[in-house]
Amino acid sequence: MNHFEYRNGEMFAEAVPLRRIAQEVGTPAYIYSLATLKRHYSVFDQAFAKVPHIVCFSVKANSNLALLHSFAKQGSGFDIVSGGELFRALKAGGDPKKIVFSGVGKKKQEIEYALNSGILMFNVESEEELAALNEIAAGVKKKAPISLRVNPDVDPQTHPYISTGMKKSKFGVDIKKSLDTYKKALSMKNLEVVGVDCHIGSQLTSLTPFVDALAKVREYLDRVLAGELKKEGAQIRYLDLGGGLGINYNDETPPLPDDYAKAIIQGLEGLDVTLILEPGRVIVGNAGILLTEVQYIKETDTKNFVIVDGGMNDLIRPALYGSYQAIRPVVESKAETINADVVGPICESGDFFAKDRDIARPKRGDLLAVMSAGAYGFTMASNYNSHPKPPEVLVDGDKYYIVRKRETLDDLINGEVIPAALQ
Ligand code: LLP
Repeated sequence: MNHFEYRNGEMFAEAVPLRRIAQEVGTPAYIYSLATLKRHYSVFDQAFAKVPHIVCFSVKANSNLALLHSFAKQGSGFDIVSGGELFRALKAGGDPKKIVFSGVGKKKQEIEYALNSGILMFNVESEEELAALNEIAAGVKKKAPISLRVNPDVDPQTHPYISTGMKKSKFGVDIKKSLDTYKKALSMKNLEVVGVDCHIGSQLTSLTPFVDALAKVREYLDRVLAGELKKEGAQIRYLDLGGGLGINYNDETPPLPDDYAKAIIQGLEGLDVTLILEPGRVIVGNAGILLTEVQYIKETDTKNFVIVDGGMNDLIRPALYGSYQAIRPVVESKAETINADVVGPICESGDFFAKDRDIARPKRGDLLAVMSAGAYGFTMASNYNSHPKPPEVLVDGDKYYIVRKRETLDDLINGEVIPAALQ
């Protein structure tokens, strides 16, 4: 459920007409609904109410400070993958004791920053990282709380670029070999083993891969961690199951958070751990749209193009994953349906939001809403072709706030210099 709906033939975000935002803020622009964000967060959190758990919103999906702040106020922790995301989470008021740090390439400065901030745990992805973490922790006279990201070798049946839990992927350590890695961790003085972690991929639309991965991790926990490792002094307090629950972009029917939670809670029965979840997309994906204005209609012998002012620089998902984003007219139209590619201004043929899409023939100046753009939209935006990044707008009832200004031309060259010696 989301709060982008038509009223009297035109689309509103909650109680604000999108047309008004376009007039006042310009296009392209990301628009988020606060009511949808809050609702998605609480539905997800409530689904796990029966078990001790921490929801750590995955900052990579949407890292705007105002959104993070709103989640922090609802009690959310954060899943981060860089020092930059840690900075954002802390600036937004996030509790460091609810921050988990994932990612295969954590750098020394990032690790020190996280240690000094007192985060909940590091999800370690390799033996070398383990050794580095131990050394860096010793350098700042701290003990690093760690969990090992195990790779259960389960096919999440999603786009290959966002599958992370298969043997061939760069993520995690082979579950079968991880006992040795845990033993190494236990022998390192500046590490404290506190958890086990697993994340198999993103935009999963069925429960089976989650259930299979959990079963593998569970079997491993029961056999190895509760047995052999416990004897050596490890106390597994956290089980982090990552994120990955999919959303409806087109005609997918992903599991509801309640069903997802039920399946996971069932798989956990009898286990004395605090569950950590790292949802991103399911919370923000359908809480945001990209508002864009039609610039030109171009009809050729073979194809029609609707050229809009947003491009792959603003929203790269269709170009990168061939993903589907629904596109709706902001003002409902009775115009004839045409088949067209909806494309941006970028000088690449991969710059499209939709291919061969049937849409009501728009005209120059019409507004289109690219739906389901709240996750991995702005966070993946770039300045390619020197387009300033679009603003982000947060709607709350009949009010809206610009939570990130549109970049200016000066922002584009911020930090660049022409060396005096070359002038
Ligand atoms: N935890 C870890 C360790 C992750 O790598 C990810 C996503 C998440 C949590 C959150 O997953 P979610 O609940 O959002 O599925 N740019 C791609 C998605 C990349 C996902 C990367 N990892 C896209 O636009 O589809």
